[in-house]
Amino acid sequence: MCGIVGYTGKREAYPIIIKGLRRLEYRGYDSAGVALVNEDGLKVYKKKGKVADLEDTLVGVNLHSHTGIGHTRWATHGEPSDRNAHPHTSQNGEIAMIHNGIIENYAQLKNELLKKGYTFKSDTDTEVLLNFIENIKTNNNSTLEEAVRIALRRIVGAYCILLVDKHDPETIIAARKGSPLVIGIGKGEHFLASDASPIIEYTKEVVYVNDYEMAIIRPDELILKNLGNEKQTPFITKLDMELAAIEKGGYDHFMLKEIFEQPTTIQDCLRGRLDAEAGTIIMSGIEKYIGQIMDAPRIIIVACGTSWHAGLVAEYIIEETCRIPVEVEYASEFRYRNPVVNKGDVIIAISQSGETADTLVAIEKAKEQGAIIVGIVNAVGSSIARVSHTGAYTHAGPEIGVASTKAFTAQLAVLTMVALKVGYAKGTLEKDRYLQLCKDLAEIPAKAAEVLKLDNQIKTLAEKYKDAPDFLYLGRGYNFPVALEGALKLKEISYIHAEGYPAAEMKHGPIALVTEVLPVVFVATKDNYHAKVVSNMQEIKARKGKVISIITEGDTVSPTLSDDVIILPPTDEILAPMLSAIPLQLLAYHIGVAKGYDVDKPRNLAKSVTVE
Ligand code: M6R
Repeated sequence: MCGIVGYTGKREAYPIIIKGLRRLEYRGYDSAGVALVNEDGLKVYKKKGKVADLEDTLVGVNLHSHTGIGHTRWATHGEPSDRNAHPHTSQNGEIAMIHNGIIENYAQLKNELLKKGYTFKSDTDTEVLLNFIENIKTNNNSTLEEAVRIALRRIVGAYCILLVDKHDPETIIAARKGSPLVIGIGKGEHFLASDASPIIEYTKEVVYVNDYEMAIIRPDELILKNLGNEKQTPFITKLDMELAAIEKGGYDHFMLKEIFEQPTTIQDCLRGRLDAEAGTIIMSGIEKYIGQIMDAPRIIIVACGTSWHAGLVAEYIIEETCRIPVEVEYASEFRYRNPVVNKGDVIIAISQSGETADTLVAIEKAKEQGAIIVGIVNAVGSSIARVSHTGAYTHAGPEIGVASTKAFTAQLAVLTMVALKVGYAKGTLEKDRYLQLCKDLAEIPAKAAEVLKLDNQIKTLAEKYKDAPDFLYLGRGYNFPVALEGALKLKEISYIHAEGYPAAEMKHGPIALVTEVLPVVFVATKDNYHAKVVSNMQEIKARKGKVISIITEGDTVSPTLSDDVIILPPTDEILAPMLSAIPLQLLAYHIGVAKGYDVDKPRNLAKSVTVE
């Protein structure tokens, strides 16, 4: 959470920083601020609200500077307010700092500083760290770089920090542990950001800073050091991302653009891997570890949110095709209990951002206990991708909308390929079924495009049901996690209370909620349980609930029990979630828009949850 941007070079810093913050707003939008340094000193401007609110207050202000840092906040310590907005300035007013992360021992440090006479203008842990640094700098008469290094040795928690010093107007000091930092290398200029999106239009050469590293950055110089003050060689990577991928491209919202990209993103994910005619799936990261995966006594999937739902689908597919027991864990629970992880267990970590703090720490813990970590990640070069022993990228491109959509279907596509590959290699998936599934999988992008043609119909449904106070989403088997995902999408985008449930479990409690005003969405595509789901529809209808069913072409029974039907092209039940998720994404999107909400930036949320 929180987005950070920095620039030092020959251009005006402010426009670059503001543009970068707009790109990073998906990481938080409780407040925004910039600190600019030049020969005349240090200026800090900050404001509660979105980046646009900050920009409005700065119209007509002289913002001339060639070095600066900027921040967009997702509040942790202290309510969203001007006072708690970053950048913070040190007590002597000479240093400004922005921070993404949480300083866990801030209370102890604050007490020490209070005893030394420090006072605080905000409620943040960031201001505590900053004054701790200032205090070290003053007492030791050291440089800012040295003071930061000394201070960080005492810090417990996660951080990516950028600092500027009014006496050194061409230098930015940066450091990270647990929160991401990318440095873009230009000609006589450097760019810093939480991800590559603010950098991409200026340079494709970047350095991903590692945990416990610091960077001292000037227009013509990038020095990377560890916290022991030893120089590190920056590893320069070429960005494989185009500017168009992070712009709306004519759509009203990123979320809609990303929903509509799915035929392409699923195809991108299959490209170069799946050859349906030859019956081959090439995934070098999986091939390297295929022996260990096939022989794994157990697979544990760890993830959060939508990625956790993808993990649930994968559990069903892997158990079916590979006959390996699978457990799916919320990363946040897994990391704090004392899970039994044995040598040889395989952990699959699923994450769009690759930066989710809970998932990252969960896999680090499991790795220490001897597990093999397979990362299924979208963001190339992200922390989870780097911590994993091996893995496969989902290649969905940057996902900007806070509600995850295309990342989910790409995760399903990758996980399906992993399961088919391992199952076939292991002999638990018969050749005919394997070949048929490969062919069916290759057809998913075209079928996803068919599903998107239902957009207008779903928009009409959204108008019809947008005022319902609650929704219930039901599904069985492979469609049960899709029901959970549909409910999550609706909650985050439209603020309507929604619950996802296994369709059969409904009669053990939630059926009490059914009234004639409760919309019940059945994810009821053709599968082995279809007749059972139809019985559950009967049960809802008998209690006068409103049934909206997502069904497969040719199903003549469900429409007789439904108030509204959404008809999808047929596919194998294993693959159906990649199609059945799409109308639920559209339904949530259109209800959110109909209610007048900012669907790309839903309240209280952030795209990348880098705090625990
Ligand atoms: O980046 P990750 O996939 O690790 O993120 C996990 C969740 O934070 C994420 O899926 C979240 O639930 C989304 N807002 C759902 O739309």
